[in-house]
Order: sequence, then C-alpha cells, then structure tokens
Amino acid sequence: MDGLEVRDVDLHYGAAQILRGVDLLVEPGQITCLLGRNGVGKTSLLRAITGHHPVSRGDIVLEGRSLAGLKPHQRARRGVALVPQGREIFPLLTVRENLETGLAVLPSGSRVPNEVFALFPVLQTMLDRRGGDLSGGQQQQLAIGRALVTRPRLLVLDEPTEGIQPSIIQEIERVIGLLRDRGDMAILLVEQYFEFAQALADRFAVMERGQIVLAGTRAEMDEATVRARLTV
Ligand SMILES: Nc1ncnc2c1ncn2[C@@H]1O[C@H](COP(=O)(O)OP(=O)(O)O)[C@@H](O)[C@H]1O
Ligand SMILES: [Mg+2]
Repeated sequence: MDGLEVRDVDLHYGAAQILRGVDLLVEPGQITCLLGRNGVGKTSLLRAITGHHPVSRGDIVLEGRSLAGLKPHQRARRGVALVPQGREIFPLLTVRENLETGLAVLPSGSRVPNEVFALFPVLQTMLDRRGGDLSGGQQQQLAIGRALVTRPRLLVLDEPTEGIQPSIIQEIERVIGLLRDRGDMAILLVEQYFEFAQALADRFAVMERGQIVLAGTRAEMDEATVRARLTV
C-alpha cells in the first residue's frame, strides 16, 4: 500500500515496555490523528517511525518498503519528515539558517522550496531574524516549514498546537489542510486537543498505555467516546 503502515510494533526503553502491538495506517492525501493523554507513548511511536528509537517487534513500512534498520537521515531521504514536540528551533540561528538545516539530508546545492514561503508568508518577512526572537506560533510555523523543505512523502507532527495562541492554531490548521488536499502527502498528527483533531482527521486512533484502544474513520470518531479516553 502507499503511505505509512505501522505493523504490530513493540518498543522498550530498557526493561520498560512502552508500546504494545501498535498498528496504524496513514494514507497519502489523508490525515491520521493520534490522540491520547500525556505519557501514553505517542512521541515514542513517532520516534520509532523516524528512526530515533528502535522497535523491539513489528515493522514500519513506507510506500510498501520497510524502514527497518534505516537511520533517521536515511528515513528523511525516503521521505519522512518530523515536526518535533516543543518545536526544537535553533534559537541562535536565523530563520533562513533554521530552514536550511532541513536541507542537510538532500544533495548539496538544494534550496528551500518557494512553497514554504507560500504556505507561511511570515517566514519570508523574518528570514534574518533569530529563531529565538520569534513568538511561539511563529516558531511552530518555522518548524513545519523546516520539515517541508525536503518535500516529504510522510509528514509527522507532534502536538503542533501545544502552547500556541488560537489565531496561529487556525493558521496551522489551514496549512495542514492544504497539504492534505494536495493529495500526495501522508500526514500523521499527534494531538491532545479534540477540536483540532476533529477538524483535520480522516482517520483517528486513540492510545492508552502504549496500545491503540480505539481507531476508525472520521465518521466513526464519536466525540463522547473519544473524549472519555482523553480527560483525566
Ligand atoms: N528516553 C526515555 N527513557 C525512558 N522512558 C521514557 C523515555 N522517553 C519517554 N519515556 C517514558 O515513556 C512513556 C511514554 O512517553 P511519551 O512517548 O513521551 O508519551 P506521550 O508523547 O504520549 O506523552 C512515559 O512513561 C515516559 O516517561
Ligand atoms: Mg509526546
């Protein structure tokens, strides 16, 4: 199949088992939202997908080919891009330099595609500002822009609305929707906030203690049932 398939994945940190038999699908032109409370293993699953932590069982397959054994930069070349939780902007580098760090996995001479600035015009106006001088929302836009410079086949976003003001959340929602509607990118969105997930999800999955306990299509995303798994 096209897109991303997570098949029966276990993950451990030392002796602690964090993920248990996780299955997940993300199709091109679709957004899969992964929901769940703090500490259930959402970021750990993303680390398994991007190659930052090994799986102890199962497989992760992109466009029909296993990613097993590939390092993060090799997965990036295969089309995997991550917008990390907390954004991880380099505060002392300029916006331009932050974007250019995304080019490191591409052939030398590669440039930041114009579409990044078409999606986030604010970045164009701030190219020479330091990352650390941007607002939280601008940093989040920069983090998404940086992930897009490789023209990924799979975009993975880890809680992009965390600590962001509502007007920028709407802007980010609009851009993620636009990327989906282009039809060639598979998008995996980790969220804690039901409204944002609901606005964007084609499919959803809810995780609890390292397991997917609820999953389905947008039509099956019943608010009361999902919310019951999210509130403490
Ligand atoms: N590097 C690590 N070493 C050991 N335990 C970790 C590490 N990273 C996360 N954990 C633990 O794994 C569990 C899942 O964490 P995480 O994947 O970050 O959850 P989420 O993203 O859903 O909040 C938590 O109990 C967390 O404390
Ligand atoms: Mg997390």
